[in-house]
Amino acid sequence: MLGSFYRPALLWAAASTLAVILSLTPGKSAQAETAFDFNRKLGSGINLGNALEAPKEGDWGVILQPEYFTLIKAAGFNHVRLPVSWSTHAAVDAPYTIEPAFVERVDWAIKQARDNGLKVVLNMHHYEQLEADPAAHTQRFIAMWQQIAEHLQKEPDDLAFEFYNEPARNINADKWNSLFAQTLKTVRSSNPRRCVVVGPIDWNDVGELHSLQLPNDKNLLVTIHYYAPKRFTHQGASWIGPEADKWLGTKWTGSAKETADMTADFDKAADWGRLHARPIYVGEFGAYEKADMDSRVLWTKAVRAQAQSHGFSDAYWEFCSGFGAYDPQGKKWRTPLLDALTVTTK
Ligand code: GLC
Repeated sequence: MLGSFYRPALLWAAASTLAVILSLTPGKSAQAETAFDFNRKLGSGINLGNALEAPKEGDWGVILQPEYFTLIKAAGFNHVRLPVSWSTHAAVDAPYTIEPAFVERVDWAIKQARDNGLKVVLNMHHYEQLEADPAAHTQRFIAMWQQIAEHLQKEPDDLAFEFYNEPARNINADKWNSLFAQTLKTVRSSNPRRCVVVGPIDWNDVGELHSLQLPNDKNLLVTIHYYAPKRFTHQGASWIGPEADKWLGTKWTGSAKETADMTADFDKAADWGRLHARPIYVGEFGAYEKADMDSRVLWTKAVRAQAQSHGFSDAYWEFCSGFGAYDPQGKKWRTPLLDALTVTTK
């Protein structure tokens, strides 16, 4: 048995060996630190959906108001995710200039968030032609991000870029990995350290994390979207197609089976995150208004709890439209939903 005198020396030797091993694997430890720290600060947020990602703001019934940001902050959220349809506001020919008035509108939203102490995840949403024909739209996609990134390069680091919401359709894993890497290279020349959010194909599905191949960059935050089971969260959602009407009446009760399925999905994401030393952000989750309120509340609470217990940040989909936690006509929060979203963070 070793005398107590030797134990500190042994501990010191073990610690030095560990330090040497870590210094020999530079990417991983440094990578983990920066992005994990940002993710902790991101905490819980809400998507300002159906506003700036409509072809034109207002087309889908939401025009951002200054008080939205104040309300979101006062309710206890830490950030807003800002979905934006850049492609309907940029020239179709090179150099694909984005309309200055639209850039100003996005600037306004970022400033409102900042003035209220909210971080921002700024994305590109609904570039339908890119999803139909990725090769034909690669140059335009990168050119738009070059403009956005150069324009916002002086912004503080409480702003993150998310290059594309839910890559899907003809954007397969190879195409997405390559498009993401090319775009990152361009964006990094003006924003060397800004946090960039990236998720897997198939609408940011947990099951596709394995196909995500990321460049060696320490400021990447990996996102997944969570809407399972879809027949519950998207019942009656017209954009899904006629089958969604057949799902009407589906409940979510938090049964042992439902909870086990949800836990398995979150465990899978956490395992991938650990293996690749990447933090995880549940950038969207929500249940549509056609589901009954009791089920929505239970499900929302359960997803929040999973995100928290796995150390993920999250953002509810969305503020004041069909999934809305806030009722813009009545000008009040839907209290059961808000409680489900914030009860564990207050
Ligand atoms: C995705 C879609 C958005 C939709 C939401 C819920 O973000 O882009 O349009 O409302 O998921 O289905």
